[in-house]
Amino acid sequence: CAACHDPAEVAKSTADRGRKNPHISPHWGTEVPCWVCHKEHAKDENYCLICHTW
Ligand code: HEC
Ligand code: HEC
Ligand code: HEC
Repeated sequence: CAACHDPAEVAKSTADRGRKNPHISPHWGTEVPCWVCHKEHAKDENYCLICHTW
């Protein structure tokens, strides 16, 4: 994914939306593999919400 989407740029694009940014966290920075949340042939899911209730 990173060949086309720079993780730092993706994190910047979803900052300041009035909710927690899934693309950068105090736990793993920008290092969570994209496919943990984005699935090609299934609904996306927000891994952060396994533990958080935002
Ligand atoms: C060959 C280049 C390329 C690769 C590789 C690529 N993408 Fe994309 N992706 C794009 C382009 C171009 C767009 C549409 C323009 C944009 O939103 O930046 C896009 C859009 C998206 C979107 C937004 C879709 C929407 O509904 O708004 C997501 C999420 C995404 N890509 C995730 C991924 C993930 C996850 C991977 C790896 C499994 C990946 N991309 C690999 C080029 C690529
Ligand atoms: C922890 C879960 C999670 C991970 C990991 C993740 N994403 Fe996302 N992604 C989301 C969520 C949730 C949204 C919707 C954000 C919003 O609407 O505020 C999103 C939105 C996007 C978008 C659309 C951005 C826009 O401007 O609307 C793109 C592109 C994208 N992700 C690409 C990626 C790529 C590339 C990676 C890996 C570097 C990645 N994501 C990793 C959860 C994740
Ligand atoms: C395995 C459980 C777990 C997952 C998954 C998880 N977190 Fe957390 N997170 C915690 C715990 C525990 C704390 C510290 C207690 C607290 O402040 O809630 C924390 C604290 C935080 C904080 C600082 C406190 C706050 O609420 O502002 C942020 C920001 C955060 N996490 C973001 C994320 C993001 C973004 C993701 C997804 C990429 C994520 N977390 C995924 C468990 C998790």
